[in-house]
Amino acid sequence: MNTLIQKAYDPEAFRRYGHELVDLLAKHLHAVQVEESEPAIPFTSPGEEYAFWEEDYRNNRKEPPLALFEKVLSRSVRVQHHRYMGHQISPAAPLAALASLLDGLLNNGMGVYEMGAAGTAIERLVVKTVAAKMGFNENADGVMTSGGSLANLAALLAARSVKGPGTVWREGQREKLALMVSEEAHYCVDRAVRIMGWGEGGIIKVPADGLYRMRVDLLEECLKKAEAEGKTVIAVVGSACSTATGSFDNLEAIAGFCEKHGLWFHVDGAHGGALCFSDKHRHLLAGIERADSVAMDFHKMLLTPAVATALLFRDGQHAFRTFSQKAQYLWERETDEEWHNLAKRTFECTKLMMGLKAYTLLRTYGPELWQQYLEKVMASGQQFAALVRESEGFELPVEPQCNIVCFRYHPPEVKGDALNALNEAIRQDLLEEGRFYIVKTSLKNHVFLRVTLSNPFTTEADMREVLSAIRTLADTRLGKS
Ligand SMILES: Cc1ncc(COP(=O)(O)O)c(C=O)c1O
Repeated sequence: MNTLIQKAYDPEAFRRYGHELVDLLAKHLHAVQVEESEPAIPFTSPGEEYAFWEEDYRNNRKEPPLALFEKVLSRSVRVQHHRYMGHQISPAAPLAALASLLDGLLNNGMGVYEMGAAGTAIERLVVKTVAAKMGFNENADGVMTSGGSLANLAALLAARSVKGPGTVWREGQREKLALMVSEEAHYCVDRAVRIMGWGEGGIIKVPADGLYRMRVDLLEECLKKAEAEGKTVIAVVGSACSTATGSFDNLEAIAGFCEKHGLWFHVDGAHGGALCFSDKHRHLLAGIERADSVAMDFHKMLLTPAVATALLFRDGQHAFRTFSQKAQYLWERETDEEWHNLAKRTFECTKLMMGLKAYTLLRTYGPELWQQYLEKVMASGQQFAALVRESEGFELPVEPQCNIVCFRYHPPEVKGDALNALNEAIRQDLLEEGRFYIVKTSLKNHVFLRVTLSNPFTTEADMREVLSAIRTLADTRLGKS
């Protein structure tokens, strides 16, 4: 046999490289928790970064991989860092990352049962566990899929198949279908509508209130207007929570509206759906048990590596409605509702063993791990907001409902476009410094800084320090220091 192939599959080399990698990662985990000098993000420009890797490839062919792993680590954002406060991604729990390694090596395709028996059954168990936590009964079912965006699209395809004209899958679409969603919803809902061919008119954006929640009092009016324009509204999407401000729509009210009008009710719980695991905070999801479908990411708030998303259907039969297609080489009859042949119900054919990452945590630590984690990071959101409130020159556009907090620095003499420019510049300066990682967003055309406090090791001192760093950067820009 070709020696390179033997080398690539040598179990002893795997053991050695694996030990080296795990040692490296353990050192990294320690460093990002305790070492002051560790940046949260080692920022480089895209051009610099590409040049670095071009040179690496030119100069380091056929080298052992440890140096590569070290380079990747030192040049990547550190989501486990206590000063990481950036986009919504969980600080993956080390054990869940090990489950990803197991998944990677097994590489079970998961499309059909035979290509991933353990992964398929574990996925079902995880889905059923989450469904029960959401308040669904045993009729509920679902699948895991590659991210919240895809889960939302798949849910809306099911909505179309159940509530829309039954002929779309076979004959294409003629009707002007539409759905209603808060103007604050994640962009993927808008994208899903356009992918389905409903066009711009297919998304009816319901205005948000002062807390950035859907104005449910406007739903009737929006529906009438859409009908007058010849549209057939088939669904309402509630956000639990919205992306920019972490605001939870009133799911009870949306459920009532959907029941009254016979519409599909989908909840985008990509971020906040996880709160079904917290006794203290699950009230934010009141009404979710009346949804027809729910999307929830494990990789945002439940400590798994990306991607791992549960897509749940209150009526499990609907889980089979999204895709119904002939693929005779994979399964026998397209109408057989076999839970165990997952490709019948997901966009993916080959997919990750997604349930495994969640199940490893669930089995090892119990759901109490998620409960403790959620309660810690939700408290961090309140703590950060309190510090913003008491810090001179800072303001909150809205009281946070979860661990996502928007704020800005607003010296009294700076107004309008200059205020937006100042906050943009502060954020860029912080990014380039790398000590903290925070992001920004735009609310009603004003620029705000934004943190997602997803790290349970972030302390009050870290929060005070980022506010102080922002003030110093602003003072420098304003020529005050
Ligand atoms: C509310 C909401 N829905 C959907 C998504 C998209 O999820 P994913 O990144 O898993 O595709 C996000 C991502 O931030 C989100 O906040």
